Amino acid sequence: MSKNFILALDQGTTSSRAILFDHSGKNITTTQQDFKQLFPKPGWVEHNPKDIWDSQIQSALNINKQTNVEFKDIAGIGITNQRETTVVWDRETGDPIYNAIVWQDRRTAKYCDSLKQKGFLDKIKKKTGLIIDAYFSATKLKWILDNVDGARDKAKSNKLCFGTVDTWLIWKLTNGTVFVTDVSNASRTMLFNIKTLSWDDELLELFDIPKSILPDVKQSSEVYGFTDESIFNVKIPIAGIAGDQQAALFGQLCTEKGMVKNTYGTGCFLLMNTGEKPVYSNNNLLTTIAWTINGKTNYALEGSVFVGGAVVQWIRDGLNLIDDAAEIEELANKVEDNGGVYFVPALTGLGAPYWDSYARGTIVGITRGSNKSHLARAAIEGIAYQVYDIVKAMEADANAKGTELRVDGGATANNLLLQFQANIFQFPVIRPNFLETTALGAAYLAGLAVGFWDSVEDLKNQWSVDKVFEPNIEEVEVMSLINQWHKAVSRSKNWIE
Ligand code: G3P
Repeated sequence: MSKNFILALDQGTTSSRAILFDHSGKNITTTQQDFKQLFPKPGWVEHNPKDIWDSQIQSALNINKQTNVEFKDIAGIGITNQRETTVVWDRETGDPIYNAIVWQDRRTAKYCDSLKQKGFLDKIKKKTGLIIDAYFSATKLKWILDNVDGARDKAKSNKLCFGTVDTWLIWKLTNGTVFVTDVSNASRTMLFNIKTLSWDDELLELFDIPKSILPDVKQSSEVYGFTDESIFNVKIPIAGIAGDQQAALFGQLCTEKGMVKNTYGTGCFLLMNTGEKPVYSNNNLLTTIAWTINGKTNYALEGSVFVGGAVVQWIRDGLNLIDDAAEIEELANKVEDNGGVYFVPALTGLGAPYWDSYARGTIVGITRGSNKSHLARAAIEGIAYQVYDIVKAMEADANAKGTELRVDGGATANNLLLQFQANIFQFPVIRPNFLETTALGAAYLAGLAVGFWDSVEDLKNQWSVDKVFEPNIEEVEVMSLINQWHKAVSRSKNWIE
């Protein structure tokens, strides 16, 4: 009997989700569990790997409680995940030796500075496509090996495993029998050579990381192994892996060179498919692997904004100005404009194109007339301005003007955000009907590997438009807004030392 569904496991920064798709790409059901964010020191962000696993597996198991679908009717599982987040566990017991160090964590910023000072920028960029930054896994992994008692010795005697979250989940799903990652996740570690498509010996030596602790690197769409029977009472092939931003690029069907998407999640991540050759940025963007399918590797240029939707969470949880993230739009709509208030949400430093680990959140332009609605509006606009800066960098790299942008992610439900985004871009922003493109991309990758879908061409008619946001302000107005924004950015830079 042929099976009717593909299951995507979407392990994000603040929640774990399971999403079931049918053959038409329709979302049958979604389950979600949030899990605890740990902030042990200013600038540090950790997750308990057990919380990651428990929330993810519970969401997957709840699929069958929420629908009549049985696990035996699932043709394959696709995994997509928060990238760079670093987990190290004991190969024998499967127990993590430290919390997962999350991509937002800045504890290795000083070490990254020392690498830059020693002149490693160019070498690392050529090999990995990345800018030296605490964002990526290499320095997080080194920190764990250097700081957890006995870790380095254990690593040398092949007793530890390192993985990004995809690797950790697959290890757990297969009861410790499959130890793999895919090229898209490997390309975010700062240890992977994006041209030779292999772990780079010279970089491993630089960071003092034994090769034996690294997973095998696979394509993004192939059968890696099967779930252990004890989990779903049936063995399901795990057949797709991609970092969440690359998965979203695939889910938006940006499969041709030049196509661009932006995801408004915890952070914002703008990716342009650059085809089968890596393109190196002159404007502080990253070169990354989009995916490898059927032996063909696609590359992307990426601009990563560290705090996007997370600023709304901060307004909810840190300031208690709203009870629910969705309320921010209503609050911001109570005023006509930002009243001169600008909010640079550099809560965990600034990513592209500034790459300033020492920047911090900054609110400027407050007067006696400012109120919480101005703050809400400034927060929403702060998300859009950061994406604007990345689009400008990408336009400079591509030597071409942007013409449209496909968007997805939770915050795209916010019409005010997307209208403002189109206004400052001066070109249309396109919101598709289905916004869970990260999960959809992972499902597509898995479905292609198990023959659930035949080809990418097959999938193209599944993408459809919900709303196009056209710019409705003049360019001169944009220029003065941008000017103020950049003044605010300069105030937030290099704040702590
Ligand atoms: O690079 C970090 C990114 O993968 C996190 O994505 O959706 O959890 O904010 P998200």
